[in-house]
Amino acid sequence: MSNVIVIGSQWGDEGKGKIVDWLSYNADAVVRFQGGHNAGHTLVVNGITYKLSLLPSGVVRGKKSFIGNGVVLDLRALYNEIKSLEEKNIKITEEVLSISQGAPLIMSYHQELDKARESKLSGIKIGTTGRGIGPAYEDHVGRRSLRVCDLFNKNKLKDKIGNALSHHNPIRKGLGIPELDVLSIVAEIDEYSQFIKPFVKNIWVELLELQNKNKNILFEGAQGTLLDINHGTYPFVTSSNTVSAQASIGTGLGLIKNSFNLGITKSYLTRVGEGPFPTEQSNNIGEQLGTLGNEFGTVTGRKRRCGWLDLVLLKQSVIISGLKGLALTKLDVLDSFDKIKVCTSYKYNNKSYNYLPLDLDEINQLSTEYIELDGWKEKTRNKRDFSELPLNAKKYISFIEEFIGVPVTLLSTSPEREDTILFHNPFEN
Ligand code: GDP
Ligand code: IMO
Ligand code: MG
Repeated sequence: MSNVIVIGSQWGDEGKGKIVDWLSYNADAVVRFQGGHNAGHTLVVNGITYKLSLLPSGVVRGKKSFIGNGVVLDLRALYNEIKSLEEKNIKITEEVLSISQGAPLIMSYHQELDKARESKLSGIKIGTTGRGIGPAYEDHVGRRSLRVCDLFNKNKLKDKIGNALSHHNPIRKGLGIPELDVLSIVAEIDEYSQFIKPFVKNIWVELLELQNKNKNILFEGAQGTLLDINHGTYPFVTSSNTVSAQASIGTGLGLIKNSFNLGITKSYLTRVGEGPFPTEQSNNIGEQLGTLGNEFGTVTGRKRRCGWLDLVLLKQSVIISGLKGLALTKLDVLDSFDKIKVCTSYKYNNKSYNYLPLDLDEINQLSTEYIELDGWKEKTRNKRDFSELPLNAKKYISFIEEFIGVPVTLLSTSPEREDTILFHNPFEN
């Protein structure tokens, strides 16, 4: 028995969906433990593309799937995702999917608040996905959330909605959004509560049973370590903890035994939305990476900012998420480059930094120090055998491993499921 915790080691969109789908072959269950439908996880199987936001990426293989208490759940988004999978002949039955009773709900007023704040010129624009993620987590910490378990207690539901609206209506009024009444929110909920009911379970009990039966559990992180609310580039972060420790908190499975924390890492770097990005290439290189890597957001379609791999930040992620190995993705995107740069330190006032300072003003004054490696100028795309990789591609991988001190355990050479090279199976940790 062993468990694998998959974590994005950068600013999201590292290719978690592809790797989770690939790994789920060896898993008995796949679990989401934070975030919501701000996530967009893509996997491609025999030319068919699946884009998942709430359902764990193991569902495409029909694996037992869990949505943990740490996830903020938009009922309509879940309904739509299940229906769109049905159109691709993936049926989500109550045997396949279990949803935590404790997951806080994302309501329409959260999404409206998220969008209204982002469209105001005053205050900080984060460049959120506009899905209501931040306001939903705020309500949870503020102890006024509606949770999945509240859907089925009609007597108490109206009081809970009233309590939430007593917070939201004054804010809406201030932002010039019409105030809401309790009954309109009851109607919003009623539309989906019967649909979701069969899936709602006590998931930590189910997970504990699986663990006690020595089953393999795969935990699927969303976003990335640098977007973590505590450890990311605050305030340009998401509103959840995205690091590996959240796998326990967001499921209720206190002790995750024999776990291998796997960091999904793009061979270069991208970011969507605002915030610092020391190795960003606002030039031809960035354009080339974006075009070759098809770097457009899975959820919002926004163009992703692109730059060179930042080993300083990667090393920081390895420490924060206790990563034991990396899955390096999108190596093929670098196939045509003459030279490939990697950032190995920052400099400010003649002082070298091997970490990213917390203060944004300091970050803005850092200069980046690079090492330039020779490109391979050969096709690695679709390669499935390490021995077929060009020497300079192998050198690039070794350089990363030596710098950050953990091995690359998986390599991905295209969006397709099987274009994956395994060095070490994380389930055999
Ligand atoms: P996630 O949010 O971490 O699951 O990543 P996304 O799905 O948002 O973005 C990753 C994108 O890269 C998707 O379009 C994937 O199909 C694609 N992808 C994943 N691995 C590879 C790879 O090795 N090579 C290429 N070219 N594309 C990949
Ligand atoms: P996956 O799981 C990339 C970014 C948004 C914004 C910030 C806050 O597909 O890797 P939010 O809507 O969460 O309040 O937005 O976080 N962001 C992501 N960027 N991949 C994601 O998820 C993201 N989820 C949120 O662009 O900068
Ligand atoms: Mg994504």
